[in-house]
Amino acid sequence: MLTDAGADPGRGRAVLVTGGAGRLGACIAGSFPDRPVVTTTRATLDITDHRAVRRLVADVRPAVIVNCAAYNDVDAAEDSPRDALAVNAFAVRTLARAADDCGATFVHYSTDFVFDGETTSAYDETARPSPRGTYGASKLLGEWFALDAARGFVCRVESLFGGTGPRPGSLDRIVDGMRAGRPVRVFTDRVASPSYVPDVAAATRYLIDRGAAPGLYHCVNTGHGTWRDLAEEAARVLGLSPSLELMTMAEARLTAPRPRFCALSNRRLTDAGYAMPTWQDAVRRWLAPGCEPLGAASRPSARQTHPAQQEP
Ligand SMILES: NC(=O)c1ccc[n+]([C@@H]2O[C@H](COP(=O)([O-])OP(=O)(O)OC[C@H]3O[C@@H](n4cnc5c(N)ncnc54)[C@H](OP(=O)(O)O)[C@@H]3O)[C@@H](O)[C@H]2O)c1
Repeated sequence: MLTDAGADPGRGRAVLVTGGAGRLGACIAGSFPDRPVVTTTRATLDITDHRAVRRLVADVRPAVIVNCAAYNDVDAAEDSPRDALAVNAFAVRTLARAADDCGATFVHYSTDFVFDGETTSAYDETARPSPRGTYGASKLLGEWFALDAARGFVCRVESLFGGTGPRPGSLDRIVDGMRAGRPVRVFTDRVASPSYVPDVAAATRYLIDRGAAPGLYHCVNTGHGTWRDLAEEAARVLGLSPSLELMTMAEARLTAPRPRFCALSNRRLTDAGYAMPTWQDAVRRWLAPGCEPLGAASRPSARQTHPAQQEP
């Protein structure tokens, strides 16, 4: 639902991006070339330092706060719930309240790990979360705090790939291994709707610029596949014949349980007039030589220009 009245009233004021050294944060910070952007990293703003957050937001008085900082170590979170909750939940509450204090829009990112994955069809935004581990629970609490903001947006993303940052995602690591000629391990039983970082950034801008209704949005590339499917598609685009070591999640003996089937449907984003490209299209733009890297297929009303994009 788009409203002209709500369309980003503070265009001259800054966009504050927290977690700006992360993979999504770096891309988000670069996606507002027409606006003043203030980017913070953990070194310049620890978002768990509530006073520092309130002070900075009061100084900058941003029109938009985009929080890309997160505690993302799914396995370590099981032994460090306080750390996970501090960053993924209570710091989000502080940011949401600070956003309200200066009338800013607040954008926060969450994850498919809020679901248990015990299903066979794509989850939409109305599906009831049921996290299986500490990381997912901390992110769910963060969602609730973020949505308390008067103009709070939560975008659930999944298995981020592309972009740059110190911690490559699973698909980035698979591609690096294939390019190096190493055998790569891929799950045959985890189904995901992966999210190409530039496409998430483009969708985020759309929601902000078009004054979309605040609330919860799934923001993944359209469609889904197993990790094996994703690896095989990447190999096809790269023209490689990789050695894939197929395994199940149980065989990997992971500390924290992962949701098995986590296709997400972007129903609300689609209703707001924005169609995310398919994950295959995103993989092609990411890897194919000479292809447009940055969210080129992500644009309003892409339903008309990309008829092949269908919700799963
Ligand atoms: N990556 C995925 O596949 C994935 C999947 C689902 C959802 N998400 C969500 O998407 C968002 C972006 O993820 P990402 O992959 O871009 O994350 P990322 O690359 O790990 O970046 C997160 C950033 O947050 C910073 N950070 C951690 N604790 C902080 C603190 N207390 N104060 C300030 N900064 C802090 C990290 O700094 P350090 O490097 O110093 O730790 C890092 O720069 C997050 O909300 C994440 O939960 C990601």
